[in-house]
Amino acid sequence: MDISHLNLNQNNHILVTGGAGFIGSNLCEALLGNGNKVTCLDNFATGKRDNIAHLLENENFMLIEGDIRSLKDCEKACENVDFVLHQAALGSVPRSINDPITSNDVNVSGFLNMLVAARDAQVKRFVYAASSSTYGDSKSLPKVEDVIGKPLSPYAITKYVNELYADVFSRTYGFSSIGLRYFNVFGRKQDPNGAYAAVIPKFVMQLMKHEPPVINGDGSFSRDFTYIDNVIEMNVRAITCENEMALNTVYNVAYGERTDLNELVGLLKEYLGEFDPKIKNVEAKYGPNRKGDVPHSLASIEKAKKLLGYDPKFDMKSGLKEAVNWYWENLK
Ligand SMILES: NC(=O)c1ccc[n+]([C@@H]2O[C@H](COP(=O)([O-])OP(=O)(O)OC[C@H]3O[C@@H](n4cnc5c(N)ncnc54)[C@H](O)[C@@H]3O)[C@@H](O)[C@H]2O)c1
Repeated sequence: MDISHLNLNQNNHILVTGGAGFIGSNLCEALLGNGNKVTCLDNFATGKRDNIAHLLENENFMLIEGDIRSLKDCEKACENVDFVLHQAALGSVPRSINDPITSNDVNVSGFLNMLVAARDAQVKRFVYAASSSTYGDSKSLPKVEDVIGKPLSPYAITKYVNELYADVFSRTYGFSSIGLRYFNVFGRKQDPNGAYAAVIPKFVMQLMKHEPPVINGDGSFSRDFTYIDNVIEMNVRAITCENEMALNTVYNVAYGERTDLNELVGLLKEYLGEFDPKIKNVEAKYGPNRKGDVPHSLASIEKAKKLLGYDPKFDMKSGLKEAVNWYWENLK
């Protein structure tokens, strides 16, 4: 993605943790393309070497293979860094239900290590991946940043604790941060494989193989699916923001429209059907609802528009077309 219109200074050194993952590798690529120096810290727990293989020859790119559960690794990664974009975490609600201890170690202890290392290295700002799961059982729609419910999974707790720590670090150490509550991000490089794959790449792969996508529940659950380029835009805006009133808080990162799972399958069949007409005849199957799943999510993006100048370029459908084209070209 070209980010030249976002006026990011080219001389910045930016640390992207989880830089070999889906969102992190897209961030590394966009920042390097803008002439920035980028360090990637990743232990490849879920990230892929393929995601960053093409960046390794770039003299502005440095890979540190390390673990955020090690304070030493975090300190090494933060050396001479201007900004941190902290993406490293174990994602997935079901993963955290199956193994809450490891999710907590990485997402909470690892987060705290990164905060301490970034504070001690005096980085200018710490931007981190928060999550829409923090809205938990709150029924209000659209989701507005200061109205949250009770968490519905260990993962949701870890992401909320991140926000609490970041807030306390700003109050007690004057350390500047911005939390970005991502809403179901999708796009190029998102992993379609494994037990914890996200719904869009998983359905794309199933449909490409003419296998029925399996919907948990009756397909009426809806999500504010958010294209990766909108997420990149918000990360860059969080770095470049000069308004003191906009710091040390959290923002929804979404497009602000919701799509239910039946509609999603319909759109995927339509877009993939342009490459292979047989896909239009594949019917979805239905299974039980999953534990910890929130029925509906829809973001208000007014705060991000007002305070950070967020201006998302991709709605769900235009992003989905881009993603489907990428999967067809790269994974078929
Ligand atoms: N994708 C979404 O829809 C979504 C939604 C809300 C929040 N988030 C958050 O965004 C961030 C990025 O998610 P993603 O979708 O790119 O997931 P991802 O799994 O593709 O990326 C996570 C990266 O973190 C790395 N990592 C994991 N544990 C690590 C550790 N102990 N030390 C160092 N690196 C480690 C992984 O190897 C991987 O490269 C995560 O914090 C996630 O919780 C994502």
